[in-house]
Amino acid sequence: MDTFSIGLLHVPTSLCGEESYDFAQSAGVSDAVERGVWGHDDHGMDLPERFARDQATADRGFVLGVARDGGRIVANARLKFPLRDNLQTVSVRLEVLPSHRRRGIATALLAFAERQVASRGRTVIMAWSDAPVQGGEPTGPVLVPPTGAGSFPASEPSAVLALRSGFELVQVDRLSVLHLTPAPAVLDGVGRQERGARAVGSGNYELLAWTDHCPADLVDDYSLLRRRMSTDPPLGGFAQEEEAWDSDRIRREEDRSLAAGASKLVCAVRHRASGRLVGHTILQWSASWPAVVYQEDTLVLEEHRGHRLGMWLKAANLGRVLDAWPSAERIYTWNAEENSFMLNVNIALGFRPAGHTAGWQKVLA
Ligand SMILES: CC(C)(COP(=O)(O)OP(=O)(O)OC[C@H]1O[C@@H](n2cnc3c(N)ncnc32)[C@H](O)[C@@H]1OP(=O)(O)O)[C@@H](O)C(=O)NCCC(=O)NCCS
Repeated sequence: MDTFSIGLLHVPTSLCGEESYDFAQSAGVSDAVERGVWGHDDHGMDLPERFARDQATADRGFVLGVARDGGRIVANARLKFPLRDNLQTVSVRLEVLPSHRRRGIATALLAFAERQVASRGRTVIMAWSDAPVQGGEPTGPVLVPPTGAGSFPASEPSAVLALRSGFELVQVDRLSVLHLTPAPAVLDGVGRQERGARAVGSGNYELLAWTDHCPADLVDDYSLLRRRMSTDPPLGGFAQEEEAWDSDRIRREEDRSLAAGASKLVCAVRHRASGRLVGHTILQWSASWPAVVYQEDTLVLEEHRGHRLGMWLKAANLGRVLDAWPSAERIYTWNAEENSFMLNVNIALGFRPAGHTAGWQKVLA
């Protein structure tokens, strides 16, 4: 008979005390699960970074549920609650050590998570699960979201569990990777794209760049871009509402990112005639995994699309990576499969498919 028990784990306020021992075990589960999914450690996180990122903030609550087997933590339910907007939603991530699967632990953790969600009056649970690309499109039976774009292997344990538990597949994202080696050849290609896009855009627009800290005179415009980024990209069937960004939240996020040992390269595009920022892109790197960079937001406001600004922004920012982070070897990015404009930009820059990410949603009765 299975003897696991489920409960809340308090996220410690310091990594020095005894209570950090359990948190370190839980973090070890997260890393082992990522390694099991991808076959490498690129999406892992060292303990100080996870500790910093799992702290509740003024913008987002965090709840950690764990399953123990004889006292040892073998599984996590990681719940994130937006606190400024999207007050109906929660994101949930279930992680079970490979050695402890098919024992009903995820099922029990999900029931626990749903009680946490319901007790806070929230009704929409979002979750994401991954499968690596193995030589192209998934083979065998696949699930296709209502968008019709992309697919996810139906036999993945996460898919079987999600469908059985009342989740719907509402979107599929593509994970892509750009290998920076051999550096000159890759960056020559990026440079060519940058020059081509600049030739189209630079008459009416100019690029501005910063590292980690948005200049004070740009922060209001940047807040608007971050707000629009939350709903402008294709959302599939996700019940995502616009996020409430203002300059204070930008500063809180910058401080938190630095405290986690991360750094961001941001590039923004300014419309010369109005003097307003009309697009931005963000690359993130972390000292805890120095070979890996993440391409995050890229946005061009709707009324300024069609001038190759997306390509210009991205290519220009990629051109800064090796100067800023000489240890960088790979850049990962996620895009909705229906986001053909962004995917085409990425392909032209040299990104190649590395994984499928299923977006799941469950609306509680
Ligand atoms: C998905 C995951 C959480 C399932 O954990 P688990 O503890 O093994 O799940 P359970 O034992 O509760 O299984 C519940 C049901 O899911 C289905 N399932 C789980 N693993 C399966 C597998 N390998 N093959 C087929 N069905 C599977 C079955 O229907 C199972 O019920 P059954 O054992 O009575 O047939 C685990 O595989 C995992 O950590 N995967 C990597 C991370 C991830 O994808 N998390 C989900 C994203 S939120």
